Amino acid sequence: MTLNITYKAFVVTEMPDGSFQRSTGYRTTEDLPHKDLLIKVHYSSLNYKDALSATGNKGVTRRYPHTPGVDASGEVITSIDDAFSPGNMVMVTGYDLGMNTSGGFGQYISIPSTWALRLPGLMTPWEAMAIGTAGFAGALSVQKLMDSGIRPDDGEILVTGTTGGVGSHAAVILKKEGYQVVALSLGGKDTAFLERIGINRILTTEDLVDKMEKGLLSSRWAGVIDSVGGPVLVSALKSTKYGGVVTSCGNVAGASLSGLTVYPFIIRGVSLLGVASAESPLELKTRIWQKLSTTWKPCELWDRVKEIYLHELEKHIFQMLEGKSSGRIVVNIKDS
Ligand SMILES: NC(=O)c1ccc[n+]([C@@H]2O[C@H](COP(=O)([O-])OP(=O)(O)OC[C@H]3O[C@@H](n4cnc5c(N)ncnc54)[C@H](OP(=O)(O)O)[C@@H]3O)[C@@H](O)[C@H]2O)c1
Repeated sequence: MTLNITYKAFVVTEMPDGSFQRSTGYRTTEDLPHKDLLIKVHYSSLNYKDALSATGNKGVTRRYPHTPGVDASGEVITSIDDAFSPGNMVMVTGYDLGMNTSGGFGQYISIPSTWALRLPGLMTPWEAMAIGTAGFAGALSVQKLMDSGIRPDDGEILVTGTTGGVGSHAAVILKKEGYQVVALSLGGKDTAFLERIGINRILTTEDLVDKMEKGLLSSRWAGVIDSVGGPVLVSALKSTKYGGVVTSCGNVAGASLSGLTVYPFIIRGVSLLGVASAESPLELKTRIWQKLSTTWKPCELWDRVKEIYLHELEKHIFQMLEGKSSGRIVVNIKDS
């Protein structure tokens, strides 16, 4: 059945002079690709990738006009896959949603059914988006560390970007699992929050980053969960203990690993593991979201979630790109 529904969406347009403009306007479901599921979006969330897409980063989004939003939760309206029925509550994080497929910053999305997860029974559509891609990536990073055999007795775990989406979720989950967590926090802002979630110590960038360009630094960490990259990740690798594990999932402080040598790997046996949450197999996503809805549910972070409407997105996109955001942003799509 083809429905032609007019809906509200945040749309990014490329102008003839190469600049990008953002506005909230109307589209119709006929504008969407005709995929297996048509979903009425209730909530989305703002992730770093959305901020890049909304400002014309062609590494994220090749074609404009475009509606970003890598996350969405909501209700199935039509399905050609028997696994889903109208009225089912589902969530989508990652794959191509919001990149080159019209994303969660619109009131409707149309997607392949292989991208959709049934919302776990103990999770609301709002909670799923309060966690979103960033929280899922934090959880996946912790899972990788645990699967690599790093145990709470092995020593301290360094989490970088700890007041951000990925870092705050990773820190809270590590604490639930009994690890000692040291936070690297850029500006030392939000210290009260870090203390409240039980962070054992807080470092500034100056405490960690090596300016002498040594091949190795003093051994400090049993594991590292990094979401900032650049010189921070380089110094974290150089200061990881023998047999330690470092996960990498972001680049807000830079994409280059300049100054890194092979010594952390060939002298200390350090492992560097990549985290690419968007393309995680559905089975893994299901397993991690099940934990996020039960034993790993990050209720400690709910009071740092800000709920906004579509017309408020632009301001928050620029705050995120300037490193001025803290906590997660849930976008209320259904009431926008
Ligand atoms: N690979 C994946 O699957 C995946 C999934 C989600 C996100 N990501 C990536 O992970 C990164 C973080 O995402 P997010 O959602 O957590 O972003 P976010 O909420 O904006 O948090 C980033 C945090 O990094 C710290 N930071 C910002 N600028 C920095 C700088 N120049 N140097 C050092 N630290 C800095 C800040 O925390 P403090 O003030 O506490 O230091 C900030 O809160 C992004 O690059 C994003 O694209 C990757």
